[in-house]
Amino acid sequence: MELETKKARRAIFPGSFDPLTNGHLDIIKRSLPLFDEIVIAVLNNPDKKPMFSVEERLDMIGEIAAEMQTGACCLVVESFSGLTADFASRKQATAIVRGIRAVADYEYELRMALMNRRLEPGIETVFLVAAEEFSYVSSSLIKQVFTLGGRVEGLVPELVEAKMREKLNN
Ligand code: PNS
Repeated sequence: MELETKKARRAIFPGSFDPLTNGHLDIIKRSLPLFDEIVIAVLNNPDKKPMFSVEERLDMIGEIAAEMQTGACCLVVESFSGLTADFASRKQATAIVRGIRAVADYEYELRMALMNRRLEPGIETVFLVAAEEFSYVSSSLIKQVFTLGGRVEGLVPELVEAKMREKLNN
């Protein structure tokens, strides 16, 4: 009897990642054992004025991802424009991974998950709970604190901190 070929379990992890925080990294690490491939999907949003361009974010995340122990999971970094559900469908993903830090995240995430399910009924949103130590960490808070001279070590990867310092000094 012929063995059935197992379908790869591909997930996308969409976000702005401006910049990637250790909270994001924590969610990526937690999702590695659950999927065969994870696409870290960086949203290209022309309406926002980001600290880092999409290209800079792709480079930074790519460098960080290349140094991660990913086990059997393949980690890919890509940018996308438009709807997350469309991108997930184009990638033939079966899941959209999102991190939940606190109850406050839930309402917004629930609305997005329900809308994405309406748009793409075959794709499930998988919520992963971030480590407590990162439950208050967000990219916007990191940018604000750093720009005003506060310390952010331990909250973002060292590479991100170095690139933020470069930005501030330019
Ligand atoms: O890191 P963020 O900013 O919390 O990520 C939010 C993101 C990118 C996942 C969300 O804004 C999104 O999916 N944007 C793409 C446009 C879209 O699909 N909008 C409808 C969402 S239901």
